[in-house]
Amino acid sequence: MIIAIAGAGYVGLATAAVLADKGHTIRCMDTDSAKIEKLNLGLCPVHESGLQTLLQKNKERINFTSDGRTAYNGAEVVFICVQTPEREDGSVTLAYVYSACAEIAGSLERDAVIAIKSTVPVGTGDAVSEYMRRSDIRIDVVSNPEFLSQGSAIHDILHAARIVIGAAEERAAAAVKSIFESIPCIITDRRSAEMIKYAANGFLALKLSYINEVANLCEAVDADIDSVMRGIGSDPRIGAEYLKPGIGFGGSCLPKDTRALSRMADSGEFKMVCAALEVNREQGSLLLRKAFKYYDSLNGLVVALLGLAFKPGTDSTENAQSVHIAAALLENGAKLKIWDPLAKDSFISRVSGEVILCNTIQQAILYVDLCFICTEWEEIKNLNLEEFLVMKTPIIIDGRNCFNPADVNGLPLIYDSVGRRTVNNLYEV
Ligand code: UGA
Repeated sequence: MIIAIAGAGYVGLATAAVLADKGHTIRCMDTDSAKIEKLNLGLCPVHESGLQTLLQKNKERINFTSDGRTAYNGAEVVFICVQTPEREDGSVTLAYVYSACAEIAGSLERDAVIAIKSTVPVGTGDAVSEYMRRSDIRIDVVSNPEFLSQGSAIHDILHAARIVIGAAEERAAAAVKSIFESIPCIITDRRSAEMIKYAANGFLALKLSYINEVANLCEAVDADIDSVMRGIGSDPRIGAEYLKPGIGFGGSCLPKDTRALSRMADSGEFKMVCAALEVNREQGSLLLRKAFKYYDSLNGLVVALLGLAFKPGTDSTENAQSVHIAAALLENGAKLKIWDPLAKDSFISRVSGEVILCNTIQQAILYVDLCFICTEWEEIKNLNLEEFLVMKTPIIIDGRNCFNPADVNGLPLIYDSVGRRTVNNLYEV
């Protein structure tokens, strides 16, 4: 099938690579010509595990272009994968979706299906369908929300639990379904499909804020979140997935989509989702609150920040808790030494103040007063806790539970994590 993709971000590119690998002919369009130039040179502009290799393998079947007509004319299905950025008031701007639609409408010369993968407010598919109405050719519009996670997009497409297709016409739903072959498919009306995407991300946010609040409670009542997680996660109604406590969720999707969902309610406030966002905001200051257990003031202290990306496997610091934590530390007069394998540049563009960039974890923790862990990178999890003894005062405040407290094993350090008993072999607090 000839398939066009509007938007060469991680969703568009991962979709392009996987569908090309299945043998389809792909035309991938992005208005950013520098990005297209890079892609045509065989370079992948986003960090996504396995993506570069899969694009390279299928380069004969993918045409990257900034020219709408070249991309869309003759395509049987066009996937819209452009971003839908958030406005300051939490609403979503559809400027990129509509400009892609205008170009698609102006380029198509024969019947086609437009599948909207971008996360869009309920009713957008209906509006696009109305806009695409033409007398000469038939353009059907379906909602096909994506459930990919950044960093594991290729894996998530290949092993998707389901695909959702919201369509008004059976023919259009069948065309999109045939592309995804064996993946279980849920077919609904367009509006419900759009809602599924928001409801899914909203639910995931609730789950995270819930477990984070339980973790905080565990600390207060001297219980252990790892045991509690095992105990509740084994109930299939709850499930053990997506239940890791920490400093809260970030990224380009969960925070944005939950804010948009909360705005959708008639009252302007979806109470549970608002509560999840509020808990998430507070969870961002957990490490700082913990630091004050050990120091009366942070002024003049040198703090190592290990892990800056909003999650491992990406170079993104969008809505990352590390950014808020860094700002608070700097405001309190601390100096920062930072380490991350991928996200240093992105982090630096969001933070201003005295920050020392380190190429190794060892360099970052050397002779510091405090170490905060914000992302559970394998490089951190693989450290031996003894390596932290090069700190001036070995106090590790771990926002991602990278280590087993039992491994502290008499070492002269403090290991303070989320929802678990603090191991303090240093001094009375
Ligand atoms: C999320 C959803 O998981 C995807 O299903 C969805 O398609 C995507 O948004 C989207 O709307 O495009 P993503 O934001 O890439 O994916 O990453 P997640 O793996 O969901 O992580 C989000 C945040 O939650 C991260 O900060 C992560 O550290 C945190 N998290 C995740 C936890 O604190 N605990 C967990 O158990 C899982």
